[in-house]
Amino acid sequence: MPLDTSFPIPVARSVADLRKIVFGWRRAGERVALVPTMGALHAGHLSLSEAARAQANRVVVSIFVNPTQFAPNEDFERYPRNLGSDIEKLARQGFVGLVYAPTAAEMYPNGFSTAIRVAGVSEGLESAARPHFFGGVATVVAKLFMQAQPDVAIFGEKDYQQLLVIRRLVRDLDIPVEIVAAPTLREHDGLAMSSRNAYLTAPERKIAGFLNTVLGEVAAAVAGGKSPSEACNTGRARLLKLGFAAVDYLEVRDADSLDPIEMLNEPARVLAAVRLGGTRLIDNAPVLPKAD
Ligand code: PAF
Repeated sequence: MPLDTSFPIPVARSVADLRKIVFGWRRAGERVALVPTMGALHAGHLSLSEAARAQANRVVVSIFVNPTQFAPNEDFERYPRNLGSDIEKLARQGFVGLVYAPTAAEMYPNGFSTAIRVAGVSEGLESAARPHFFGGVATVVAKLFMQAQPDVAIFGEKDYQQLLVIRRLVRDLDIPVEIVAAPTLREHDGLAMSSRNAYLTAPERKIAGFLNTVLGEVAAAVAGGKSPSEACNTGRARLLKLGFAAVDYLEVRDADSLDPIEMLNEPARVLAAVRLGGTRLIDNAPVLPKAD
């Protein structure tokens, strides 16, 4: 498949075209950053590519709505897709050198039979409601790393458990890529930017901003000495009172291992998934032990 030059940034559709360009850059001694995305790009994604630029001379953004991380009852079909407008946004940044937008057949050719399972950090939290999810993510991200062979890759802290799963994957499989975490970008009311925010109705959108407020309250309560389980019970009740339809989880976990904690001795993270109408939102916040 030839490189698609009909967009303001060249688009590689095949592994061969991707490698031709990336390997050329690397041979010339340039450092290459990859920003994996599923498209529907918003300011949060653009902040990931900004972070990539700070890490490397060349930035590649991949856009692939990965079917294996969606269960049959999830939003794969309706997940927003607009390659043209995504590339326009990246082009306006002025530094993204290549978009990699493989076809599903290029990523998962007939007979594809391999799956990567990362144990430990992938268990619980997101996996409780979406048991298929991290297998799909780990497999596609490992493939993207093998395909592009970047020096560095950027992932948002918004998907905190995903970030830890990818760090584990890279360590366990000795994949020579540095993983850099980028902070979550938020709307004026604190709502974490996400492609799925587009599904929210106007009244739901008003409620959504309170997720970050409640995460901050739970983090402050735990940092102030309250037990994580008590703080989370209060937080859960607050979320439901504020109008969230359900709380899939609201938990304080160790920031590195994601093990449950009973007391705050090490840096921790409060993580939540909530439902508003048909939309599921996730977010998280740091909890730091007070310095003595
Ligand atoms: O975070 C995402 O957008 C996706 O899970 C990723 C990492 C691009 C894999 O499909």
